[in-house]
Amino acid sequence: MAHRSALINVMVAAAQKASRKLLRDFGEVENLQVSKKGPADFVSTADKTAENTLHYELTKARPKYSFLMEESGEVVGSDTSNVWIIDPLDGTTNFLHGLPHFAISIGLQRDSEMLAGVIYEPVHDEMYWAEKGQGAHLNDRRIRVSARSKMEESLFATGIPFKGARNHPEFLAHLEAVMSVSSGVRRFGSAALDLAYLAAGRYDGFWETGLSPWDMAAGIVIVREAGGYVTEISGKNKMMQSGSILATNDRLHSPLGKLLRDAQKEIS
Ligand code: IPD
Ligand code: CA
Ligand code: CA
Repeated sequence: MAHRSALINVMVAAAQKASRKLLRDFGEVENLQVSKKGPADFVSTADKTAENTLHYELTKARPKYSFLMEESGEVVGSDTSNVWIIDPLDGTTNFLHGLPHFAISIGLQRDSEMLAGVIYEPVHDEMYWAEKGQGAHLNDRRIRVSARSKMEESLFATGIPFKGARNHPEFLAHLEAVMSVSSGVRRFGSAALDLAYLAAGRYDGFWETGLSPWDMAAGIVIVREAGGYVTEISGKNKMMQSGSILATNDRLHSPLGKLLRDAQKEIS
């Protein structure tokens, strides 16, 4: 059994607690698809309830730490160097449509660096966790990024911008470049799980723009601890501020980055 530190135990326990109600709510969502009003209000309550549970459990364990949460925003504690960065439900659109692909994501940032991350996929009971310097794990198994180095054999994940996002032309250029040389591109609808799957060697690379810190906080440390590389598409290291991410195994970072940057140049 892989050794989990006290910190990881706290994060895992909070994710498990929040997931119980979330799973029950997911069961209800199916029944609501046919109702006139649809499940939107119900889902936003489920989302908020999961966040409240995470906030409560993590505060109980580490009373002084601060929070950055998708639904409630910043909550400043007496310790501002430790910040929990939380997405209580990543993959909301999937959840809303009864698609079983969503996760809870908890990252811990210490002194502006990502220290630990937990991403929990309740439907398959898959717990991804990592702490800086300790490796990355899926449940009790150590995980590593894939070893693929050829673009034509590689499978990539991304996020398609939707209504309200302004980066549609840039995305189309990126997609055209990658789909023409790779073995495929997937859009499953949860950036946190895209990163977790990359860490587990299922995907070979992932890129997206327009993300928020809670979509990637936990995933960044999990991918790095699994031996992967994470930067912005530009190659810089301010993903949490810019919302741009390029995460790959240790062989594909420069070819995928070059492909995406060249595609962008062509449209600008
Ligand atoms: C979304 C998912 C999706 C990504 C979006 C995010 P949410 O988060 O991570 O994969 O493409 O940009 O907003 O809204 O489901 O928490
Ligand atoms: Ca999210
Ligand atoms: Ca969310």
